[in-house]
Amino acid sequence: MGLRFIFMLTRNDKTVEDAEQHLITALAAGVHHIGFKDVGLPFERLKQLNEAIKAGGATSYLEVVSLDKESEIASAKAAVEIGVDILLGGTNVDAVLPILSGTEIQYYPFPGKIEGHPSALTGSIDEIVASAVELNSREGVSGLDLLAYRSTENVTGLMAAVCAAVDKPVIMAGSIGSRERIEIVRRSGAAGFTIGTAALDGDYPADSPELETQLRSIQKDVAGVNNHLSPLGPKNLEQSFAGFSETWSPKIAGTINNMQVKLVKLEGEFVWHHHKVEDELFFVHKGKLMMRFRDRDEIIKEGEFIIVPHGVEHCPVALDGVCEVLLLEPSSTLNTGNVRDERTVSDLEYI
Ligand code: NI
Repeated sequence: MGLRFIFMLTRNDKTVEDAEQHLITALAAGVHHIGFKDVGLPFERLKQLNEAIKAGGATSYLEVVSLDKESEIASAKAAVEIGVDILLGGTNVDAVLPILSGTEIQYYPFPGKIEGHPSALTGSIDEIVASAVELNSREGVSGLDLLAYRSTENVTGLMAAVCAAVDKPVIMAGSIGSRERIEIVRRSGAAGFTIGTAALDGDYPADSPELETQLRSIQKDVAGVNNHLSPLGPKNLEQSFAGFSETWSPKIAGTINNMQVKLVKLEGEFVWHHHKVEDELFFVHKGKLMMRFRDRDEIIKEGEFIIVPHGVEHCPVALDGVCEVLLLEPSSTLNTGNVRDERTVSDLEYI
């Protein structure tokens, strides 16, 4: 599983007034993890917000803001009543665990000591790691919510040290507003991270400050960091064939594992040959191809393909002028197979 991006419908540690509207945008942009805080909106609206998140197929997160024990207990009770999937934050683990017991809610408390408002993570890396290890050992704790960017310690070192010390997932919270930071979070071994204000305020590097563009840009960066993003765009056959005129000289248009997509222009008759191990697919893009076999001929028209199994002797013939053919075959395939003549091409160009 790749790094998880959790979009927080929050600004300055509060759920935003227009959370419902932003939620629609986030779901439309394909965000699958969406969180809010238990302050900023009345309880009923938070409950409806949670229902809408889940109805949209996303996982819901509630992050606890207040740190005094009584407010934290109230937040945990609210999480149960709202029915969130994951409760993030808080430090009063002993008080919260009994409230969550028997529910399906996953609990990710804060390791270390949290102080002030907006919250800051205090203490040395060693102290925070010790707290993380202790929480990690607790039954009922599903993971940790590390306020990494709210620490005055070396943030990269802190994240890596905490992730190395625990075996439960760690979410990084706070100020992750660029691809560079997402990469650092990924390298630390974290399971996920949150972004709220940066996206809502249009501060994430993107083509526009509009929320949808912001979210799509974050998701693209996350997909890139997760190696889920293909760097390859579409290839147009028409344009690719227009790019060369030589006949009987296949060009490599792409590779798939150890297979190659080749484009070739045929004119007239080729040479009888076979391939010892390679099967070949001929797809006719333009023109008409006759595939001669020792016992019969096959005509392959535009939009049709034929597969020649290895070992079978064949001789392609272009009928009616130039025929444009897409080949799919192992990269080891030599165009003239077992035969070497002036039309053998062993060093193929890429197009
Ligand atoms: Ni062949």
